[in-house]
Amino acid sequence: MYVHAFVYSYAIGVQMTISLRQKSGLVILIMCVLTGIFFLSCDNKKPTSASKQVHEGLILGFSQIGAESAWRNCNTRSVRDAAAENGVQLLFENAEQKQENQIKAIRSFIAYQVDVIAFVPIVTDGWDNVLREAKQAGIPVLVTDREIKTTDESLYAGFIGTDSIQEGRSAGQFLIHKFAKSGKKTVNIIELSGTEGSSVALGRARGFREALSGHTEFKIIHSESGDFMRSKGYELMKSVLARYKNTDAVFCHNDAMMLGMLDAMNELKIKPGKDIVIVTIDAQQAAIDALRLGQVNCAIECNPKTGPTIMDLAAKLAHGESIPRVIHVDEKVFSEDDSDLADIPARGY
Ligand code: AHR
Repeated sequence: MYVHAFVYSYAIGVQMTISLRQKSGLVILIMCVLTGIFFLSCDNKKPTSASKQVHEGLILGFSQIGAESAWRNCNTRSVRDAAAENGVQLLFENAEQKQENQIKAIRSFIAYQVDVIAFVPIVTDGWDNVLREAKQAGIPVLVTDREIKTTDESLYAGFIGTDSIQEGRSAGQFLIHKFAKSGKKTVNIIELSGTEGSSVALGRARGFREALSGHTEFKIIHSESGDFMRSKGYELMKSVLARYKNTDAVFCHNDAMMLGMLDAMNELKIKPGKDIVIVTIDAQQAAIDALRLGQVNCAIECNPKTGPTIMDLAAKLAHGESIPRVIHVDEKVFSEDDSDLADIPARGY
């Protein structure tokens, strides 16, 4: 369209030059050429970019697990915003932490005949039947944030999300480094883990143990699930910390539970980050603030901003293209050892 405008402007300029047969005609010609160039440059900034056209009209069914943490809310925002920016029609369902609600949501997406289904599986098991129904209906499925276990890998197209095993490893590696020169013969650790049966809780626990294996001084003296919730982190750690007075470190599977635990520590007159070393996952703003205050020793990033990539992958699937089997998002580790803690940009969650 803008190429046409350019040609059109040029043609008018030539015509005016010839008809006026005046010196000023050349000026008009130059102005018309410049106008055409202006139109062409506008073309690059148009919102109807090639990428938007790829997504336009796409119907995506998205089953989110709930709103258990600031991380989750940011993840939801990222998906909603990316859908709106790309002209994707989003059918969004909040499962309120129940797998049965997710299965119902996926069935409703199939009945609606959406182009693509994306979902965050609350737990790893129990998806085969509903995914088989999606496959029979010819609807591709994208698994995001948490992974699933299945007997048939063809039931979903791919996964985009966090590398939870690596997050757990990073937590273990930080503790090894932290206590390396302490001279302690035994380092007593409490693990405050995430939702039971979720791939992230399983992966974080596995990576953590993997990193600590061979370092016999580290003992996990207690491990319990706080379901990724602040209220449960508070309740649970109030009694656990009162029971285990010899705790050296706590590994929290997410920031929400860690923040609840800080409230409990405050009541128990325990100095977080000093009396007890704290490692947490997510690296949301509140955790970075606590790290700057010395109340947290290490915050491992779990990146919730996957919305734009989800839209791109969904568009590819809708166009019959294949996608990578696994995409892990970029994630950093922030610790008390970093010299540039003051420079960490605002996290947005
Ligand atoms: O699945 C990702 C985890 O779920 C995040 O670490 C946690 O904060 C969220 O609720």
